[in-house]
Amino acid sequence: MIIKDKEFEIYLSKEEIAERISSLANEIENNLDGIKPTFISILNGSYIFTADLLRALDIECEVSFVKLASYKGTSSTGNVISIIGLEQSIHNKDVFIIEDIIDTGVTLANFIPDIQQRNPKSITIISLLSKPEARKVPIEANYVGFEIPNKFVVGYGLDYDGLGRNLSDLYILKEG
Ligand code: XMP
Ligand code: MG
Repeated sequence: MIIKDKEFEIYLSKEEIAERISSLANEIENNLDGIKPTFISILNGSYIFTADLLRALDIECEVSFVKLASYKGTSSTGNVISIIGLEQSIHNKDVFIIEDIIDTGVTLANFIPDIQQRNPKSITIISLLSKPEARKVPIEANYVGFEIPNKFVVGYGLDYDGLGRNLSDLYILKEG
């Protein structure tokens, strides 16, 4: 399938994604032990994953959405993340961050201290996808849907230059 100017091939079908999310949800539920999570979903990429994961969870919970804006060249890491949209207090709450993908890890490594400053009781990270080979900073999720190779993916909420977020399946960049 061509998206804009690049060729992608199917990598994970919507059925495979749904099946994995259902088992992830079970795993999360079984580990909750009475905890009432406050989910923080990172937009835009996580919107579909968040909707599907939260509906697979049969629990009482809160959910907020944030957008991250990064500015280059203003810190040692080259990135400062500012949070847009977290009006809700997370003081003493069990925060579960929902990400679409962990690539270099830089986004989350910058975001987490900001969350920590707001004194939550705990922080848990859930990411649908992870590219372990791409990591530049040591950050790992507590729950990962799929580990994938270090190649660009699109669909199921993730975009290539603004396109492809609405695709039900996940596609990977075709080489050559
Ligand atoms: P880092 O490198 O900070 O990346 O862990 C996290 C953010 O980068 C975007 N990203 C991707 N988006 N296909 C996408 O559509 C990809 O393969 C990909 N890899 C990284 C994404 O926004 C993620 O939140
Ligand atoms: Mg994203």
